[in-house]
Amino acid sequence: MEVVILADAKEIGGVAADAIGALLTRKPAAVLGLATGSSPLAIYDELAARCDAGLISFRQARGFTLDEYVGLTADHPQRYRTVIDEVFVSRVDFVPGAVEGPDGLASDIPAACAAYENAIRASGGVDLQILGIGTDGHIAFNEPGSSLASRTRIKTLTRQTRMDNARFFGGEVESVPTHCLTQGLGTIMEARHVILVATGRNKAEAAHQLLEGAVSALWPATILQHHPHATVLLDDAAARRLQLVDYYRETYRAKPEWQGI
Ligand code: GLP
Repeated sequence: MEVVILADAKEIGGVAADAIGALLTRKPAAVLGLATGSSPLAIYDELAARCDAGLISFRQARGFTLDEYVGLTADHPQRYRTVIDEVFVSRVDFVPGAVEGPDGLASDIPAACAAYENAIRASGGVDLQILGIGTDGHIAFNEPGSSLASRTRIKTLTRQTRMDNARFFGGEVESVPTHCLTQGLGTIMEARHVILVATGRNKAEAAHQLLEGAVSALWPATILQHHPHATVLLDDAAARRLQLVDYYRETYRAKPEWQGI
């Protein structure tokens, strides 16, 4: 995995937006994997600014979100479909219907999960997947204990994740849904390039495990150690527990700028 340690979320947003811009230049009909959560917000801000300035366009691109709470109605502000529209999709020039997400209101959940896998496959697969990471090492909503080969399915959220996400539900952990639909680790591993973002001290242990721990279902993000093109973008606070921190910094400093991530 390539590790890039930057000063703050704004710099991270710039580096990730460069990679997404290069992809869209090379392949205007690219398929993007979109994540919710606070980690990718700086990337979306930067992409929206570049789209406004006419530097990039999503007109031919498509998108798939990672996950969705089960049971939140269409008008719920924390429904991930609504959140991603608000923080990103509506701010750029995707054509209507170009971004899809798992259906957390489906009456037949296994069928909805299978349909989502088929839709991703039919699009040609995700070219670039943006990811955050939970404090417990989850990616999307693949909680500790997830099969490392899992596909889109229903999962029970851990108490830790519900506590972490309570801030979006008026601080009420009991208001956070107990279940979600999530792309599996096997699904995410099929993306051609994965960019994972982690910022802040509370992500330092998860970042250390992700990069330097043993591959294990206990820290689901560690499966990315098997990915041929995964880039991890960290700020200094999230990098503070890394054993090889000097090596990562030196490697990135010595990289020619034209190469990108
Ligand atoms: C949620 C999402 C994940 C996200 C994680 C971290 O549980 N399902 O996709 O990566 O939280 O969120 P944040 O970036 O807000 O710390």
